[in-house]
Order: sequence, then structure tokens, then C-alpha cells
Amino acid sequence: KPPPPPGPLNDTSTKLVNNPAHPFLPQRNGDMRGPCPGLNTLASHGYLPRNGIATPAQIINAVQEGFNMGNDLAVFVTYAAFLVDGNQVTNLLSIGGKSSLTGPDPPKPAIVGGLDTHAVFEGDASMTRGDAFFGDNHSFKENQFDEFIAFSNKFGGGKYNLTVASEFRWQRIQESTATNPNFSFISPRYFTAYAESTFPITFFVDGRNEDGALSLDVARGFFQDSRMPNGFFRANQSIGLDIIGSLIDFIFEPHPIQPGGNQGRVNSYTVDPNSANFSQFCQLYQDFVNNTVKGLYPNPQGVLRDNLNTNLGFFFSPLQGSGCPQVFPFGQ
Ligand code: HEM
Ligand code: MG
Repeated sequence: KPPPPPGPLNDTSTKLVNNPAHPFLPQRNGDMRGPCPGLNTLASHGYLPRNGIATPAQIINAVQEGFNMGNDLAVFVTYAAFLVDGNQVTNLLSIGGKSSLTGPDPPKPAIVGGLDTHAVFEGDASMTRGDAFFGDNHSFKENQFDEFIAFSNKFGGGKYNLTVASEFRWQRIQESTATNPNFSFISPRYFTAYAESTFPITFFVDGRNEDGALSLDVARGFFQDSRMPNGFFRANQSIGLDIIGSLIDFIFEPHPIQPGGNQGRVNSYTVDPNSANFSQFCQLYQDFVNNTVKGLYPNPQGVLRDNLNTNLGFFFSPLQGSGCPQVFPFGQ
């Protein structure tokens, strides 16, 4: 039976996290890294297994300890990714591509392909990674980081801040609309795109720094090298769903766009009324379970079904008391 997720940290103060117990070490042959600079960095500093294969509990502990991510956000995001990209029987997830180290595969159409898997969690219009349509959705792209720099210079006085986050998020959407005929920007990607635009501010800025601005060399270290700067302190408070939600509002407001996508040709962005938007958080949860998870596991049996149900319960746990009704695609 999969173990329950860890609880919140007792001590959520800032502290040195690039420390002697967690040195940066370069990737060895075979170590998995992927589209998430946060998890890549935690693996390269030994907060996660350095081979990039981890359990949900290891990921939740690592994001809390290493970056002060709040427990509700950590549990929700980790189980979302684990349910679609991880192995429900062995309890292992690759933070990069598919790996035999996560164990034997369940029956198709399940994928268990790690975080690189396109369209179940990973999606288009990422800041520093390309759209899957162009062939590689997980490697750092210098040309996109050049834009990150240009926008930080133009709107942030040489640093990435909330204003830059808003303008650059919009630019990434415009660029995918103009270049990717298959551009898709519906739930869950619609939500994660905005959330991830806040993360460099909340998690990559040193916890002793009060101005919410990320210098570009520190940004490059995380995004490209999976590396914390020397002497790095984590955030000075736990950053959960409430804080990220208000920062998303700030990023969204100057350039609102409804979920949708291109129609097989560039510059054909069409709103998809069936996708959840920011006023429909419960539908984000519900569609993820009933469409995305159930699409991969149409008829699970035995221990696979039992573990899916257990992990769906853990996924819902941060929403207890939110007013969203829990859904049970595999029975109760
Ligand atoms: C992107 C997973 C925590 C920072 C991503 C992506 C995935 C992912 C799958 C790719 C989405 C895409 O851009 O298409 C996770 C999971 C987490 C987690 C399962 C567990 C809690 C974190 C943390 C940080 C972080 C703690 C910061 C310290 C980012 C950033 C991006 C990203 C900045 C956007 C990368 C870009 O657009 O270039 N994450 N993440 N993540 N993640 Fe994470
Ligand atoms: Mg992406």
C-alpha cells in the first residue's frame, strides 16, 4: 500500500540549503533530469536521489526542505504528476524521461513515461523548454533563455520579477500561437503555465532577499545547470496554494486569455469552452481525474486499482474543505 504523504515542515524559517550535506554534483551517465528546474536542482544537490528516480514522499520532503514549498501545493502537484507519469505499483517516478528503474509497466494506454511525457502534465509554452511539436520538450533552450534575459532587462531592470513574469508568460503564449500549429493551452497546462511563471520568484530568490527579484546568473544556474548558487538560502516562509494563487492573478491580469489552442495551423488560437479556467478550480481537479488519469487507466485491476484509488485520495487531500467534491472514477 502506498504510504501517505509527509506533513508540513515544523520549522519553515529560511536557512542555508546549498550546504555541505547537499553539495552540487554533476549528472552522471544515466541520471534522469527533465523539464522541471526545481526538481532537477533538488536531484543534483542530493535532496532527491541523484539518479532522478523518486517516490512521491521523497519529492514532497525535498521541495519542502530545499525550497520551502507549502505542503498543500507540494502534495497537489506531486500527486498530479505521479498519477499520470509514475508507476502506481512500485511507487516510483522519473523526473525526466522513461526509465526501466521505475519497474514493470502496467497495461497500455498507461504510459509511466516520467515528467517528460507530453500533454498529461508537461505542456506547451514553457519558459526555457521547447514545445513538444518541435521535438524536445525538456532540455534547456538557449534561444528561449535569451528572451528571458531580454524581458528581464526590458521590464525588470535586469532581473526577473512579477512584471517580467507577466510579460514573458504572454510572450511565450504569443510565440507558440505564431509558430506551433498544434499549440495546446488547456487545463491542466493552462494552470501549470501560470503557476510555473511564479516559481522563479517564490523559490529561486534567496530567502534573505526582500525585493522578489531574481538575478539572471542565478536564474541560469537553476534553469540550465540544475544548480543552487553558493550560499543559497531557501524562501523565508512556506509558499503554498494561497500565495501562488494571488501571484497567478497578478501575472494573468494584464494579459488575460482563456484556455484554448491552435487548430492544426499557426495563428488559429481558439478558446476551448470545455477546459477549466481560473474561475473553475474544482473542474481542473475533476477533469484531471476523470479525463487525464482515467484516460490512462480505463479499467485498472487489483493492486493497480487499489493504489490508484489511494493516490487519488492523497491528490484530493489538499482540497478537503475547499468545497470541491471528490470524484471516484474507479469506485470507492
Ligand atoms: C516546470 C513538475 C516542483 C519550478 C515543471 C514541469 C513539470 C514540473 C512536469 C514542466 C511543465 C512545462 O513547463 O511544460 C514538478 C513537480 C513538482 C515541482 C511534480 C513537485 C512539487 C517545483 C519546484 C520548483 C519548480 C519546487 C521551484 C523550486 C519549476 C519551473 C518550471 C517547472 C520554474 C517551468 C520551467 C520552464 O517553463 O522553463 N515542473 N515541479 N517546480 N517547474 Fe516544477
Ligand atoms: Mg513544457
